[in-house]
Amino acid sequence: MINFNFENYTKLIFGKDKELTVGQEVKKFSNKILMHYGGGSIKNSGLYEKIVASLKEANVEFIELSGVKPNPRLSLVREGIELVRENKIDFILAVGGGSVIDSAKAISLGANYDGDVWDLFEKGKNFEGSCVPLGVVLTIPAAGSETSGGTVITNEDGGYKRSTGHRTMRPQFAIMNPELTYTLPDYQTACGACDMFAHILERYFTNVENVGLTDRLCEGAMKNIIENAKKVLENGNDYAARAEIMLSGTIAHNDSLSMGRIGDWASHDIEHELSGIYDIAHGAGLAIIFPAWMKYVYKHDINRFAQFANRVFDVEIDLKDLEGTALKGIEALKNFFKEIGLPVTLEDANISDDRLEEMAEKRTENGTVGNFVKLNKEDVLNIYKIAIK
Ligand code: NZQ
Ligand code: ZN
Repeated sequence: MINFNFENYTKLIFGKDKELTVGQEVKKFSNKILMHYGGGSIKNSGLYEKIVASLKEANVEFIELSGVKPNPRLSLVREGIELVRENKIDFILAVGGGSVIDSAKAISLGANYDGDVWDLFEKGKNFEGSCVPLGVVLTIPAAGSETSGGTVITNEDGGYKRSTGHRTMRPQFAIMNPELTYTLPDYQTACGACDMFAHILERYFTNVENVGLTDRLCEGAMKNIIENAKKVLENGNDYAARAEIMLSGTIAHNDSLSMGRIGDWASHDIEHELSGIYDIAHGAGLAIIFPAWMKYVYKHDINRFAQFANRVFDVEIDLKDLEGTALKGIEALKNFFKEIGLPVTLEDANISDDRLEEMAEKRTENGTVGNFVKLNKEDVLNIYKIAIK
């Protein structure tokens, strides 16, 4: 285990009807806020009215910015930054999923930054100041952005999807009522399950030794996602299963599973090129890329892959053929993604192979990706090729 600091200050407010407390929670920070949301799901579900009523009851003034798209766009972030500055807003409330939260985070970062916010993504510039504080009402368990210190934004100019983080970017609170996820289409539920699973895998595949506790925690969390993802897809109103999945999404990405480890993150980086160019849902992109990445790198540590197969998918360990055990684990993961209705190849997602070279080039223009195995352009291209069919 390596040395680490763990800090995650986001307050979780979890359970039935908790969204009704949003006015009180916001009031602790501000009397005038920006309320940020997506394309309409919160109006269709009736959540919007509840939030507005709670804010009014707490005498919190709010202006609204809606229209966040999945794979949130830089142009709306820039609009939000202007709104926050013009109206002297000192708190942002994100109501929605990872895209809404990430857009709110980028606004909260850019509003106090004396320059173009994209520089903080693309050029990796440092920002010494603080973000405008924000809070979240979560409607889809997936990205884990409700407690993470990062944001991922797409610049429409060139189709660049890039991330950045800041020590003050974690939300102050995250309101999480599993009932708010009953209205999710099955496909979004499945994409969310894959994304949270991938957040654990990124942490699981590490070169750091003696990480027994976090290995076991990762494996338990993955097994629990497999079990409950199937349950929520059978019955979308199963509160117990929805609650398990919602909490899993947070645990997967709140950094508790990466204590003392170094994660990989190549699959996320490689997927972001797909989302950036083809606007595919991030979780679906990961269902295609992760098994391909595994097939490409498993020989780097066959024991770890065999352990994954055995402990997560109950594949019997064959001591005479550990490679076979490892490969069965990768196949089992692919089958799980298929079973919950996700594409597992580029062909499944109707993505042709004519821009693979371009994506590999873009991804590696600032150097290699990944930590478990460091991948150059050729490697990334090979992974895209494995993912074709
Ligand atoms: O826009 P609305 O109308 O709200 O519809 C959304 C959207 O179309 C819909 N939806 C959300 N809650 C719903 C609902 N529909 C019905 N009922 C509900 N309760 O679902 C669609 C997808 O929403 P989105 O926010 O895009 O999904 P998700 O939470 O999966 O977020 C994905 C984004 O998060 C980024 C991804 O890259 C992607 O852009 N990530 C952010 C991370 C972070 N900041 O730490 C980490 C992750 O790795 C991830 O990369
Ligand atoms: Zn992700």
